[in-house]
Amino acid sequence: MSVFSFLRPPRLGFRNLPTNPWLIGLTVVAIVLVLALVIGLPLHFLVFDQKPHYYQTSFRIPRVEYSSELEKAHSEVKASITSQVDDIFRKSNLKGQYIKSHVVRFRSSTDGLKADVLLKFQFASADNENKIRKMAEKILHHNLKDGTQYLEADGSSPYLQAISTTEAEHRINSGCGLGIDPSFLTERISNGGTFSQKAAWPWQASLQVDRHHICGASLISDQWLLTAAHCFNNNRNPRLWTATFGTTLRPALMRRNVRSIIIHENYASHKHEDDIAVVLLSTPVTFSEDVRTVCLPEATFEALPQSNVVVTGWGASKESGPIPNKLREAKVEIISNDVCNRIDVYGGAVSSGMICAGFLSGKIDACEGDSGGPLVIPENRLWYIIGIVSWGIGCGKENKPGLYTKVTRYRDWIKWKTNL
Ligand code: ARG
Repeated sequence: MSVFSFLRPPRLGFRNLPTNPWLIGLTVVAIVLVLALVIGLPLHFLVFDQKPHYYQTSFRIPRVEYSSELEKAHSEVKASITSQVDDIFRKSNLKGQYIKSHVVRFRSSTDGLKADVLLKFQFASADNENKIRKMAEKILHHNLKDGTQYLEADGSSPYLQAISTTEAEHRINSGCGLGIDPSFLTERISNGGTFSQKAAWPWQASLQVDRHHICGASLISDQWLLTAAHCFNNNRNPRLWTATFGTTLRPALMRRNVRSIIIHENYASHKHEDDIAVVLLSTPVTFSEDVRTVCLPEATFEALPQSNVVVTGWGASKESGPIPNKLREAKVEIISNDVCNRIDVYGGAVSSGMICAGFLSGKIDACEGDSGGPLVIPENRLWYIIGIVSWGIGCGKENKPGLYTKVTRYRDWIKWKTNL
């Protein structure tokens, strides 16, 4: 054979199939691999890719009267309902698919108290959705028919109705003040501007012009934000503003245009009084674990000096420092207006519409870019907004704690503007 025979062009045809056993082996392995991918991947997604499925149902609760107490996020009746439903499904054939249940609403009907409940299941698309729904119906029916339970089936409506995941999550997350578990306040010793966990402060929004963060704001309904009036000193045109949600500025989890900006009538840009505004979004947000409202306190609510509170925002970590991409939180303390008005502190500049929070020793404080953002306090395991980041002299300076608009003072104004 010529030394150059390998230069001859390859001939095509069956007779030239590789005879080298190694080559045959390799080809077979390659074909098997490709087939495995082509068949296996879709099959994998069909069989193993579990997705949440939600069903809506309602129960009758015979021995309970309707009261607004029931609607509280941690009400006992809600807990009893969900624990009974959990019990039923965890002993059933659907224990592998059942995840949890949520009471979304109470109604009082001629038939007694009713609770609307969402049931969450998780299963692969290969499982027949209809079959699972029917099984779940049967299980509920079977367990509730003798009337000895806390719950009874509600005969007046279809048993289980499938609803979309987005719609279900919107309804489940529509309660206010559900962020990080407030016990973190006592557990965590560190309080110096740490980065926030996902979904810890889901009401926090960023108000932006040309996609640049200007101020913080807080979601108080699916369409209203609460913020500071001074955020709009340079720009009051709603069309130039957008609001983003989620813990990072880039990428933003959700973005909304602004329809209108309502600034307190008595606010004037040369002073710090009445530093409050509400912003109406063009389209409502969709609630999720990461986007929820903060609770508004009653006008009579009073946060005592030394209470632990938390301020959050994308503000700079030092004076004229850069804006971070990730949301930060700082644990601060309420300081009484008397202390804050001492001659060596703010010497009388703190009015009754303001709250003082931080430390006289300095260091931990809000700063530029945090303005408009929330100061929150936990109450019965829910977070309430008591302050709006407003002003201060420098950031974290000794004897110069942060000043916040006192939300309770403006509770009626908020109601007047937003009806919330
Ligand atoms: N005015 C500042 C802003 O526009 C917020 C100031 C808060 N300062 C403070 N030391 N707490 O972002």
